[in-house]
Amino acid sequence: MPHQSELDTYLAQTSTSRALSDRARALLPGGTTRDSTFREPYPIYIASGAGARITDADGRSRLDLIVNYTSLILGHCHPAVMAALTEQIAKSTSFAAPTAAEVELAEEICARVASVEQVRFSNSGTEATMFALRLARAYTGRHKIARVEGGYHGSHEHASVSSKPTGEDDWGSADRPRPVADSRGLDRSVLTSTIVLPFNDLAHCRQILAENAEDVAAVIVEPMLGKSGMIPPAEGFLAGLREITQRHGMLLIFDEIMTLRLAPGGAQQRFGITPDLTTMGKIIGGGLPVAAFGGRADIMDLMNPRNRDGLPQAGTFNGFPLGMVAGLAQMRQLTPAVYDTLNATGDNLRDRLERTFAYYELPVNVTGIGSLLHIHFTPTAPGTYRETLTTDGTVLSEFVTGMLNEGVALAPRGMIALSTPIGEAEVAETIAAVERVLERNAAGWRQRLHSLAAHLDPPAAARTGSADVTA
Ligand SMILES: Cc1ncc(COP(=O)(O)O)c(C=O)c1O
Repeated sequence: MPHQSELDTYLAQTSTSRALSDRARALLPGGTTRDSTFREPYPIYIASGAGARITDADGRSRLDLIVNYTSLILGHCHPAVMAALTEQIAKSTSFAAPTAAEVELAEEICARVASVEQVRFSNSGTEATMFALRLARAYTGRHKIARVEGGYHGSHEHASVSSKPTGEDDWGSADRPRPVADSRGLDRSVLTSTIVLPFNDLAHCRQILAENAEDVAAVIVEPMLGKSGMIPPAEGFLAGLREITQRHGMLLIFDEIMTLRLAPGGAQQRFGITPDLTTMGKIIGGGLPVAAFGGRADIMDLMNPRNRDGLPQAGTFNGFPLGMVAGLAQMRQLTPAVYDTLNATGDNLRDRLERTFAYYELPVNVTGIGSLLHIHFTPTAPGTYRETLTTDGTVLSEFVTGMLNEGVALAPRGMIALSTPIGEAEVAETIAAVERVLERNAAGWRQRLHSLAAHLDPPAAARTGSADVTA
């Protein structure tokens, strides 16, 4: 069986990782401390990284097409980032006081991102979206949050609603999704204060928001659905949300924690929409845990501790100098030309991947924009979260395992994020690896995927290309 053979090769290549995982299982639930790096039967443990490559605990090198889930846009150990870190380490790692680097990184971000007049730093994207939502409630005096089904905003309570529903709970219809808790243990009260919107369906977003016009403080949305499969917004969808939120006095929050890497000013620059607040992370920390939320100065001023009722934002490591200098060094490398090259490389890889899968007659769609890609084993490109669920998980997992065996690491869910050390040679290397994996497996997968597609009811997507055909 192909699955056995890819898995057997994986097991044979990764004995040190298996031993580490066995030790970890006794200490960390499931042997892991991060769901997104967990995989069956165990993840590959990494010893080091340099440029576009990572080396595992067994000494095997692979092309890294994950780059810590999009963070390391310059690849591993970029000289400018390493120099900044080395210099800072010699001066100590953190203080109970701000540093010049915090001001400089704030200047860099405010200069780039149109919506961000003022900014605050945190250590994770989870904190950034949590504070942005709290700010929105404080600013508007309203208590409900509207978010998109399948959107990902981290793991605090309000972020943990309908980010990955399966349909086992009552999730409502696709055009009127109901809030579903992501897990047990969630404070159930957030289910009553969360409105769930259908991505790329502006007509229903319009209706749902109008029905909740008095109560919704903010609409939070990723300009392109990231974790759910790099699903770009349909024409007019983001502009429509901007118009609706303005009309009802709601704040529009763009969660650009992933999409900031698409342009110097993030996806908001690319799409020409200015939200009220923006959350950022990943690339702004140069590989260290740094995130941020920012936006209109009149809203951000609610955080001002000089105000008697300023919203508190403590955090032992907020603005920690190592993160600030690494982020600053990374951001300063990112000229407009760097984004252009990176995005062109992504478009080229997307195109070549699609042509390779088509050559092997596999129903695969590679979605995304520029340097962010996602491989879906689906007959049509998903335009919503629910449409991604028709992908065949077994084939996807075998494919990712096969790619690891061939020396290319992509995320278990099929995501690819490029970094600047990836050029034409690395794109060719990736395609050659895909071809070798497909040579071994395509026949079996083809049969499986075609019989799955035949049973899909209704057919996965009848996309119109427009967000709001009725409006
Ligand atoms: C769009 C988006 N929002 C929020 C988060 C959460 O960020 P963090 O993992 O730093 O908490 C992520 C992380 O992947 C993300 O992609």
